[in-house]
Amino acid sequence: MTAIYDPFTPTVLADPATSYHHLLEEEPVYLCQDFDPKFYILSRYQDVESALQDIETFSSEFGQGPKYSMPAGMLSDPPQHTFFRRLVQKAFTPQSVELLAPQIENLADNLLKEIDDPTSWDLHDDYAFPLPVIVIANILGVPEQDLHLIKKWSDASVEAMGAEDPTSYQETLQQMAQYLLKQISDRRLNSEKEPVDLISKLVAAKIEDKGLTDEEILGVVNQLLVGGNETTTSLITNAVWRMLEKPKLWQSLVDNPALVDRAVEESLRFDPPVLGLFRTTTRDVELHGKIIPKNAKVLLHYAAGNRDPRAFNDPNNFSLDERKGRHLAFGLGVHFCLGAPLARLEARVALQALVQHFPNLAFVNSGERIKPFFLWGRKTLPVQVT
Ligand code: HEM
Repeated sequence: MTAIYDPFTPTVLADPATSYHHLLEEEPVYLCQDFDPKFYILSRYQDVESALQDIETFSSEFGQGPKYSMPAGMLSDPPQHTFFRRLVQKAFTPQSVELLAPQIENLADNLLKEIDDPTSWDLHDDYAFPLPVIVIANILGVPEQDLHLIKKWSDASVEAMGAEDPTSYQETLQQMAQYLLKQISDRRLNSEKEPVDLISKLVAAKIEDKGLTDEEILGVVNQLLVGGNETTTSLITNAVWRMLEKPKLWQSLVDNPALVDRAVEESLRFDPPVLGLFRTTTRDVELHGKIIPKNAKVLLHYAAGNRDPRAFNDPNNFSLDERKGRHLAFGLGVHFCLGAPLARLEARVALQALVQHFPNLAFVNSGERIKPFFLWGRKTLPVQVT
């Protein structure tokens, strides 16, 4: 059979969803030869779900990116993962996230009030991009004046993960590490104070008397920045993009703001900001008549799984009607996104504020896609007010 899918062709990069039918129906175990190392793609909902749950076979030990790497802390397999995850969860609870709602509402309001020319602006640059960075910097306790650094660094970390030559990002990532290590050691010096920000809480957190070293905290903070910034920006941008593209959807939200949670969930299903992440096989796996060899990189394609008609009714339609089924945008199992409650809250607040401030918001064009092939979001999204 001729392979028609290549995640690196301009057409697939511009609209990955055009390829899902082929993956799902023709080649549910797809070998992608156009990357070094070559990798396999699993696209069917049930296969992705099973692989995420079978962590002994589909290991995270060689990284979640397409290159073989040595992830530490939360990104690894149990038992190390379990210790880190429990510890971070102590400092970053869903309850502590809910308490941030008024602060995020204020921030969204202010960002929208500060737009220079409200008749014509960029939804990414002026809104969806600054919002999550400011939120996470506040949570971590990083000074406001260093926000631009945090954003620059977290973008570089994400890009490094999918780059052909990750070493080109080394210098930038070292600057980030130095900066954060200084923040961590400052907190250690003040550790007798009640911990308020997340870095202080990570410094103080212990399980059975065992805490984290500075380097380990750095890894966790890095993971929060890398995992949480661009993804949440993409969620907000993707959701608005799809609804403005079909103005009836936007109007439904304006008329009924209570639909906001459905809009967020449908955007996560239809346009997951992380299209898929990688695992490495620990043994030969036979699936749909093909063998995936031991030590192979496998892309678990959440986005294709989210469009699998075996799992979702009318999957290629973005709809604000009630839907059955659980999307894969935040992964599943032991690595299920730790920041999901925060991402959902930020997106909900961002959409609510936008509808209130700009009910007449209108589509200009789709802007530009972000770079890494396994991520999905807009780098720009021009909008106007009619
Ligand atoms: C729409 C926004 C987001 C999306 C789509 C997203 C997606 C994901 C996915 C797919 C995973 C699973 C990784 C895997 O299976 O290997 C994950 C894990 C993770 N996410 Fe998110 N994420 C988002 C927002 C956030 C935010 C806001 C934070 C924190 C501030 C965050 C922190 C994390 C962490 C720490 C993990 C690792 C959990 C573990 O391995 O136990 N994420 N995320």
